[in-house]
Amino acid sequence: MSEFNESRRRFLMQSGLGVAGLTALPSLAKAMEGMGGMKHSADVEMPKLTPTKASPNFHPDVEIDLFAKPTTIPILDGSKTSILKYTAKLVKGPKETITDIPNSYLGSIIRLQKGQKVRINFYNGLSVPTVTHWHGLHVPQIMDGHPMYSIDSGEVRVYEFEVMNRASMNIYHTHQHGATAKQLYLGLVSAIIVNDSEEAALDLPSGEFEVPLVIQDKQFDSDNQLIYSSMMKNKMTGFTGDKILVNGFPNFKLDVASRAYRLRVMNGSTSRIYKLAWEDGMPITVIGVDGGLLEQPEVKPYIMLAPGERLDVWADFSGRNEGTELTLKSLAFAGVLPKMAEMKHRGALPVGSEYPICTIRVTKKVSETHKLPMQLSKFKHHEISDTTNSTNPLPIGISEAPMSMLINGRAYEFNNPLPFERVKLGSTQLIEIFHAHGNMTMDDNTKANEHEKHESGGEKKMGGMGMMGGGMMDLSMAHPIHLHGQSFEIASRSISGDTTAYDTVKDGFINSGLKDTVLIMPMERIKIIKPFHDFKGLFLYHCHNLEHEDMGMMREFSVE
Ligand code: C2O
Ligand code: CU
Ligand code: CU
Repeated sequence: MSEFNESRRRFLMQSGLGVAGLTALPSLAKAMEGMGGMKHSADVEMPKLTPTKASPNFHPDVEIDLFAKPTTIPILDGSKTSILKYTAKLVKGPKETITDIPNSYLGSIIRLQKGQKVRINFYNGLSVPTVTHWHGLHVPQIMDGHPMYSIDSGEVRVYEFEVMNRASMNIYHTHQHGATAKQLYLGLVSAIIVNDSEEAALDLPSGEFEVPLVIQDKQFDSDNQLIYSSMMKNKMTGFTGDKILVNGFPNFKLDVASRAYRLRVMNGSTSRIYKLAWEDGMPITVIGVDGGLLEQPEVKPYIMLAPGERLDVWADFSGRNEGTELTLKSLAFAGVLPKMAEMKHRGALPVGSEYPICTIRVTKKVSETHKLPMQLSKFKHHEISDTTNSTNPLPIGISEAPMSMLINGRAYEFNNPLPFERVKLGSTQLIEIFHAHGNMTMDDNTKANEHEKHESGGEKKMGGMGMMGGGMMDLSMAHPIHLHGQSFEIASRSISGDTTAYDTVKDGFINSGLKDTVLIMPMERIKIIKPFHDFKGLFLYHCHNLEHEDMGMMREFSVE
């Protein structure tokens, strides 16, 4: 029995539903399909499964108690701010497994080694249900933090998995159904860094010379309390704050010696997209992305970083004098928001405006030099010809309409995959991400419909697709699309139409590494190659603009 069937069986026993009851489980979203755009992700019925317990046959190398709790912390001058915080305590394993950032709301940073067996006892100390997802880690469905595994206040869920990932920076964050954005914004996020022997052999800057930079934006009221508004206009574009925080601190300053550093950058914002650049024009040297080290470093004038994406940056401050400062900025760009929203000056810190992120201060002159390795890693590349569907890519068709952000014309439904969302275990699939709204060509519409026909042998139509076109306003915007499970490779990107806005971001993408989140700009099409190996079950894919995710811009692959 697969793990999913196992959990399903437990759910059935617990809920008293028979098998017939489950297959008929009509999600409310589906029932409401006839009502136009009124589908809301939060309306989906999610089973409530019994939390998993520690298994006696699993012998962990590392065991961690992880708590999610409300607390208060000083962030700005004056009153402390109420936040939600992850705190990890080491039960067993090497002491460098857990690092806390003193006085930060950001959760403990967890450092794991490839091959380690890890047990995490997760305690929900909030007053509401929550669940934790290990974004980027390749783990079985039941350990992936799918919202069906949410636990109530006071409950404990035990996660047990082996670290299969190569060296990389991953994220752990809440995935509570319909509340991911808000819970993450209030603090439930941090980093899991994985190390391996390939990386160790490179002797990259480590210890105090390897620095995480988690970038977030927040809004505070006059009493220093966090503001999170879920008004519809914020749901469409995503909620943005007017203050940038790095590792939990406003006006973050990093004191460095004049030598090379490894900066582990994460966009931990709910929706804000950054165009990162050094203030003095020094190019950004990227040595890794979401899924770990690149094969060779890439040097870029700036880097686009969308929510959920990570960046491994080689920053060499050698030759700089003591007392000098260097700002990491977000530069001006266009095109990521719907034209209407972009025209209105939204808030004090509009997305796409220019502003500082943090400041590096050289406080010590040293003569130490660390050379950037030209060959960083080697990994197995997949070609389009390795995929099982090289001429018939699985579609991820994005459509935007007022009140609903959809994928392939559908909002999220629990355990109700379309025929092409059923994927064979062990296969490697070609997936095409594209915009399926007003700009959708006849060709796309036919293609998506045909795909479904082809797969199901039936006449089923793509719900809602093709209805969004016509005279509707142009709501197309950029979306960071994230797929759970194994990392993917980017096979191609193409853009059609007026590229004026795109030209302001086009040099900021890294396509050579292993990814789990990719930013698709309006009018862009991206083909990715994604392996579905090792684990059967339901694996989410969704927009990592978390307001979009919560609106239902999320689907599941059922790996069978
Ligand atoms: Cu970072 Cu499904 O999430
Ligand atoms: Cu994820
Ligand atoms: Cu989106």
